[in-house]
Order: sequence, then C-alpha cells, then structure tokens
Amino acid sequence: MKQVQDAVVDMYEKLPVPYGLVRFGVAPDHPEVKNCQDTFEAVAASSRFNYIGNVEVGKTLALADMKPHYDAILFAYGASEDRKMDIPGETLPGVYSAREFVGWYNGHPQFSHLEPELDKGERAVIVGQGNVALDVARILVAPLNNLRNTDIAEHAVAALSRSKIKQVEVVGRRGPLQASYTVKEVRELMQFPKVGFKSADLNSFYPPEGIQALPRVQKRLAEVLQKGSGITNKDHKDGWQLSFMRSPHAIHVKKNRLNQEIGNHVDSIEFQKTEFAPDADQFSKDARVQLTEETITSEASIVFRSIGYKSTPLLGLSDLGVPFDEKLGIIPNDVHGRIISPSAGPGNLSAGHLPGLYAVGWVKRGPTGVIVSTMMDAFTTADIIAQDWNANVPFLNTDKGNNTSTGLGWDGLKDTVLAQGVVPVDWEAWKRIDKAERQRGEEIGKVRWKFVDTEQMKAAAGLASSWNIEKIHAAAGSS
Ligand SMILES: Cc1cc2nc3c(=O)[nH]c(=O)nc-3n(C[C@H](O)[C@H](O)[C@H](O)COP(=O)(O)OP(=O)(O)OC[C@H]3O[C@@H](n4cnc5c(N)ncnc54)[C@H](O)[C@@H]3O)c2cc1C
Ligand SMILES: NC(=O)c1ccc[n+]([C@@H]2O[C@H](COP(=O)([O-])OP(=O)(O)OC[C@H]3O[C@@H](n4cnc5c(N)ncnc54)[C@H](OP(=O)(O)O)[C@@H]3O)[C@@H](O)[C@H]2O)c1
Repeated sequence: MKQVQDAVVDMYEKLPVPYGLVRFGVAPDHPEVKNCQDTFEAVAASSRFNYIGNVEVGKTLALADMKPHYDAILFAYGASEDRKMDIPGETLPGVYSAREFVGWYNGHPQFSHLEPELDKGERAVIVGQGNVALDVARILVAPLNNLRNTDIAEHAVAALSRSKIKQVEVVGRRGPLQASYTVKEVRELMQFPKVGFKSADLNSFYPPEGIQALPRVQKRLAEVLQKGSGITNKDHKDGWQLSFMRSPHAIHVKKNRLNQEIGNHVDSIEFQKTEFAPDADQFSKDARVQLTEETITSEASIVFRSIGYKSTPLLGLSDLGVPFDEKLGIIPNDVHGRIISPSAGPGNLSAGHLPGLYAVGWVKRGPTGVIVSTMMDAFTTADIIAQDWNANVPFLNTDKGNNTSTGLGWDGLKDTVLAQGVVPVDWEAWKRIDKAERQRGEEIGKVRWKFVDTEQMKAAAGLASSWNIEKIHAAAGSS
C-alpha cells in the first residue's frame, strides 16, 4: 500500500480473528512477542485495507471465483498441519501433536475440546528438539501462577492445575549441537526455582578442546546447558531432561507380567538409538545420523510429537495453475515470492512466474522461522509485487496487454459469501471481539480472556449466526 498509492488490499482469514500463529502459536508467557500486532493496527486503519475474517479461501470462496476480481493473489496461509512420526502406536490415546496442544492452550477453536490427558501419570515425553518442543515443555513444568494472568485459555489453566506431570523428557534424534531450539528458550526453562534439569553426558558431544572451540551460537547454548538449572531432578520432583541420539520407533500400551498388552493408552515410547554417519562432522549443525540396532524405551503417560508443522495445498490451487511441492510443503517460488510453475516457463526444464500470483511466510519457505524472519520475508515479497506492478508485467487478468480485472475485489464476492449464510467479520467487528476479550479478561485478572469458539467470537462482534440474512447484509454493509 505504501509503494502503490492506489492499491487496495483485501485480507481473507478463515477464523473470525486475525494474527494466525501470533495469537494461536506464540506461548502465552511470551506477551512481548505479540507486540507485532500493534504494527498491524496502522495498516488496518487504512481505507485501502479490508479485513475479511471468517471466510475460508478454497472453501467459502473458490479461488477461481476470486480471480476475475483481483490483479494479484498472495498466498500467506501458513502451515495448518504437522509432520507425523509414522511409527506404530502414533494414534493411541495419550499421543498428541504439539500443534494440537499449543492450539489448545492458546484457545484455537479447532482444539479447544482437546482435553489432553495430563492426569494419567507423571511422565511426558516430547519428540523433537525445536523451540515448539521447549514451549510445550515449559507450559507443562512452569508454575501455574506464571501462566494464570496471561492470555492462556481458561480450560488450559483448569487442566494444568489438575496435571500430574512431574517429569518431561525432550528427545532429539541428533546431538545437542544439532538441536534447533535457541538459547533464550533453554535458559527460560533453567530459571524456574523448583524445576530441575538433567541431561545425558554432554561432554561426549563437544570437541576435545572444549566448548570454547565451538562457533558463537553453539557455544552459548552449550554454556547454558552445562550450567543447568542449579537444581537436580533429585532435589525436586518436578524436572525436565534432554535426551539425544534417539529416533522414535514405536509407541506402546502397558503390558502385564505375561507380556500381554493391557488397555489402549500410551504407556511408553521406544526409540532406536542413532549414531553419527561415518562421513558426518559431529560438531557441525548439519551432521547426519543413522539408526543403530539398539533400542531404548522411555516411560510415558503422555507423548507429544513436535517434529515440525506442514503446509498443505489450498483447495482449488490447481484451478489457477498453482503447483504445490508436497515434499517440501511449499508453493514453489523464486525465493522472492513469485510463484513459479513449469507450465509458465519457456520450456519443460525452466519454470516461469505465474502472473499475479505470489506466496509468503511458511507456505513460501517451509515451517521454520521466527516472526522477524517472516516479516522480512513479507517485506521482500511486497517489494517484488510493487516492482512487478510498476514494471507493467502481466498480472492475474492481463489479456493481450489489457487488464480485464473487474477491480471489484471483495465487493464482487460479498454476495457469494452472504448467500451461504456465512458472516464475514471486518476490522471493526474484530475490534469489538478484541475489546470484549480484554474486558472480560480484566474482570478475572488476565490480560485477555479469549473466546475459544467461533460462535462466541461472532456473538461478541455483534454478528451472531442466529441473525437472519437481512441482518447479516445490513451488518456487512454498515461496519
Ligand atoms: C507454537 C509456535 C510458537 C511460536 N513462537 C514464536 C515466538 O515466540 N517468537 C517468534 O518470533 N516466532 C514464533 N513462532 C513462529 C511464528 O509464529 C511464524 O514465523 C509466523 O507466524 C509464520 O507466519 P505465517 O503468516 O506464515 O503463518 P500463520 O501465522 O500461521 O498465518 C497463517 C494464517 O492463514 C490463515 N489461513 C489458513 N488457511 C486459510 C484459508 N484457507 N483461508 C483463509 N485463511 C487461512 C490461518 O488461520 C492463519 O491465521 C512460533 C511458531 C509456532 C508454531
Ligand atoms: N520462542 C521462539 O522464538 C519460538 C517458539 C516456537 C517456535 N519458534 C519457531 O518456529 C519454527 C518451528 O519450530 P519447530 O520446533 O516446530 O520446528 P524445528 O525447529 O524445525 O524443530 C523440529 C524438530 O523436530 C525434529 N524432527 C523432525 N523430524 C523428525 C523425526 N521424523 N523424528 C524425530 N525428530 C524429528 C528435528 O530434528 P532434526 O534437526 O534432526 O531434523 C527438530 O529437532 C522454528 O523456526 C522455531 O524457531 C520460535
């Protein structure tokens, strides 16, 4: 909008409320991270910006129907699935993905009824050693008083207060020098006054010259791990631990003395030990490992897989000729965000830009990167769209050099949405939800008490679904 002075931007969001993983991923005890939402207020205040919440692209609105009304479509729909371990027992009761659990404690409507079984036993195992794994570990071991007043969902406060979990094991398939969590997140877990820490012998993973020989980031991480928490798990019943070089192999239910399976709830997780590949530099972040024959089993009353999120193709992508790379889980692009397809290229081996189609964020890059990197990525793609526009290259509806777009945007699509009885939520309506959440939060001493159900959200916006079609039309027209 800054660079193309007459550009109008319509932002579609499938939920009534905005902010994606900033609202539903970032941990509730990291409120400072959510400040990036404030930057958005200025953008949203522009008369050239329309927020259209509660409208799922691909389902409520077909991409093919959207195309005639726009010059460009930018896909920024993130990663709404997660990677599977593909091991026996993965679907047993008591096994959750970190994505579900994170969505649950953050009040995502899709996961508000998860009811994770935190009271079946004392031991949680988390597979994966990224920052999401540490978020899950922290929520499980943090003193509840650290969380109560945050925007954590109230159902999570209630369940965590009944939680019996005392030990959390965070398991990686490679070593401590290959883990992808960052130093700030590890340090946080070391600072709870009553939470112990233990780890496998770390020295065996470090260079013989000691950790001083490591590159800066790895060195700082090693120092924090070496220092530990000052509390051993023996001093205290509650604690967390890191285990390395273990690849998930199978999840088991309880067995009796005759080795017969009893019940259908997770009781342990079996790992296959790994070793560094013969050609790997074990001190390098990229060191590869291979499986050994040896297995090791961890007791677990609950298991979380935290091995990465995954993007999926939006329904109807192919109607616009947009390919999807299932292996990388991204929309193929030229790194700047221009969507590329072999069918748009000059020949079979070279892909060209599909006019007017762009991607950004996790669906462009894959499911890694913090908010700052995602924002930088967004600025690059915005620059590229503006640059392409100013260079007069073909856009979505360029036909023989003429722009045949209706230029109507949302105005050309509103009726299709309303005819389905779907209530779109605009920015003012979101602000009413926001205000209501803050107000009711204040009443119980929280920064925000989120609505965890889309009907509650719409009701707070004054757009309850029981409204008749005339009222919906009137609301859509007036606000
Ligand atoms: C658990 C977790 C914790 C994190 N914590 C931090 C942190 O503390 N600090 C940090 O810097 N980074 C953190 N990150 C990373 C950060 O959240 C991401 O870098 C960033 O949110 C990615 O942005 P995105 O726009 O690609 O995706 P998202 O934030 O997921 O946004 C995608 C949006 O698209 C919507 N959508 C999906 N499908 C459709 C559809 N069909 N129609 C309409 N809308 C649709 C979704 O509802 C969502 O709102 C965390 C990530 C996770 C998973
Ligand atoms: N506080 C924060 O700043 C914060 C909080 C949360 C998330 N984030 C960001 O969000 C992004 C996503 O985080 P993430 O934790 O989901 O992803 P991630 O950083 O990619 O970590 C995924 C972990 O899963 C492991 N893994 C992958 N496949 C596996 C398999 N089949 N078996 C066993 N282990 C497997 C990986 O090990 P290998 O390395 O061996 O593949 C890695 O340890 C990251 O960029 C992260 O920094 C940031």
